[in-house]
This record gives sequence, structure tokens and C-alpha cells, in this order.
Amino acid sequence: MENSPEVRAGLLTPDDFGQPDASYKMAAWLGQWELRGTGHWAVEEKETGQFVGSVGLNQSEVTPLDWPGVEVGWTLHPNHWGCGYATEAGAAAVKYGFDKLGESRLFSCIVADNSRSQAVAQRLGFELITEKTMSLLPAQPAQTHQIWALDAN
Ligand SMILES: CC(C)(COP(=O)(O)OP(=O)(O)OC[C@H]1O[C@@H](n2cnc3c(N)ncnc32)[C@H](O)[C@@H]1OP(=O)(O)O)[C@@H](O)C(=O)NCCC(=O)NCCS
Repeated sequence: MENSPEVRAGLLTPDDFGQPDASYKMAAWLGQWELRGTGHWAVEEKETGQFVGSVGLNQSEVTPLDWPGVEVGWTLHPNHWGCGYATEAGAAAVKYGFDKLGESRLFSCIVADNSRSQAVAQRLGFELITEKTMSLLPAQPAQTHQIWALDAN
């Protein structure tokens, strides 16, 4: 998934990010589940069982002063864009964040020109609250990120 140009553009993936890094990233998600009770799930198409993406909840260690809180995030293989899967899985992640984790406010951090991701946030009811210049990965240059928020009812 992360080898596609579209996903690399959306995630600001460094040019030298390869398969070993993808393995570490998957291990890091599993570790975050163990250590913090948050992480991403693999998303599968119900009819076929095919892997289509990664959606879930993230508590970043990278920029703790800038990071607003528990973040809902979504990435799909481009072959599966346009089907509503990110919105469906994002809604499940939001429910988990409020009901299981007891969070009162969830966030989504989205680079300013990522309109597809902003549309997912809007469909889920998130509102744009501010913009911050920050990097989400150590190798990334700082970028302007929109901070979207959704409050529990
Ligand atoms: C961000 C990303 C996950 C959005 O994917 P997406 O397919 O546009 O989002 P959804 O799965 O919610 O699908 C929405 C589309 O499906 C359509 N759709 C069909 N059935 C739908 C349903 N039941 N519910 C919602 N949308 C539906 C919508 O109309 C919309 O269509 P459009 O593409 O013509 O606007 C994808 O672009 C991606 O992986 N980008 C790269 C990684 C990335 O940037 N991640 C976010 C970092 S902040």
C-alpha cells in the first residue's frame, strides 16, 4: 500500500522508505496496541477478505508538544479509493475511541492540501479547529497540518 505514489504523497513518506520500514511500521502499530491501547487495524473487504488499508487510533511519540491527543487516521490502497471504506472504518475507530478508550475529544491531523483525507474527516463530523506547522515522522520536514476535532456527544 505504502509503495504507491498516491499514498506516499498523502503520508509524506520519505523517498527512502522501503519494505523493511513498512515491517517496522506494522510492528510499531502492534507495539502501540500493547503499550497504549491504541493503534491501527488492517482493513479488509468483507466480501473477499482482501487487505485494503490501515485505519485506527494513534498517540504519537514524535512531536508530543504539538500532538493534540488521540488521532483517528486512515490510509487505503488506491485500488480501493472511492468506495467509502475509510469513512466506514473511520466511524468504527471513532466509536472505539469514545466508547472503549473513554476519550472526550478525538483529533485528525491532515496536511493542508490533502483534500481526500479532509473529506473523510468532514463525513465523520470532524471540524477544523486550527493549523499547526509540525512533522509527523523524524525524517519529515515540518509541514502545515490542519487539526480537525470531534467531540463525544
Ligand atoms: C484519505 C483516503 C483514505 C480517502 O480515501 P477515499 O476513498 O477518498 O475515502 P472513503 O473510503 O471515505 O470514500 C469516499 C468516496 O467513496 C464514495 N462512497 C461510496 N460509498 C460510500 C459510502 N457508503 N460512504 C461514504 N462514501 C462513499 C464517496 O462518495 C467518495 O467518493 P469520491 O471519491 O468520488 O469523493 C485515501 O485518499 C488515502 O489513502 N490517501 C493516502 C493516505 C492519506 O493521505 N491518508 C490520510 C493522512 S492524514
